[in-house]
Amino acid sequence: MDISFKVNHPITTDQFIGLLESSTLGERRPIHDRECMEGVVSNSNLLISAWDEDLLVGIARSVTDFHYACYLSDLAVHKGYQRSGIGKRLQSLTQEQLGPLCKLILIAAPAANSYYGQIGYTHNDRCWVLDPGATIGN
Ligand SMILES: CC(C)(COP(=O)(O)OP(=O)(O)OC[C@H]1O[C@@H](n2cnc3c(N)ncnc32)[C@H](O)[C@@H]1OP(=O)(O)O)[C@@H](O)C(=O)NCCC(=O)NCCS
Repeated sequence: MDISFKVNHPITTDQFIGLLESSTLGERRPIHDRECMEGVVSNSNLLISAWDEDLLVGIARSVTDFHYACYLSDLAVHKGYQRSGIGKRLQSLTQEQLGPLCKLILIAAPAANSYYGQIGYTHNDRCWVLDPGATIGN
C-alpha cells in the first residue's frame, strides 16, 4: 500500500466528514451539524493527512500552541486501512511539528481506549472536561 502523508494540506469539509464516516469516528462527532464541521475544519492549526492517491484515508487534526500543549481532537483512519501503521505515523508526524516540551493530549473514544497505552501514551486520571452549556459554579 503506497500511502502519502501531508502536513497542513487543505481538505474540504466533505472530505473530513467522509473520513469520519468511513473510520466510524463519525458516530461520535456532530457530522450533521454543517456549521460545526466547517468551523472544525477551518480552525484547526495542525492537520496531518494520509492519502491513497486522491482518497483521504487518515487524519490527525489538532489545535495547538506548538510549544506546551497539543490537543489531538480527531484521529481517524478509514476502515479499509486500519491496523497498518497509518494511525501511528499520523501521530509521529504530529509530534514532529511540536517543540520539545509540547505534550500531546486527547480523549480516547471508548473503542480505542486501549490503543494509546500500547503505543506510548500515559493515562492521566486528572484530566477534566467541562461539557458545553455546563455552568461554572462552586
Ligand atoms: C484508532 C485508530 C486511529 C488507530 O489507527 P490505525 O492506523 O488503525 O492503528 P495503527 O496501525 O497505527 O495501530 C498500531 C497498533 O495498535 C493496534 N490497534 C489499532 N486500533 C486499535 C484499537 N481500536 N484498540 C486497540 N488497539 C488497536 C493495532 O493492532 C496495532 O498493533 P500492532 O502494531 O501490534 O499490530 C483507527 O483504528 C481508527 O480510526 N479507529 C476508529 C476511530 C477511532 O476510534 N479513532 C480514535 C478516536 S480517539
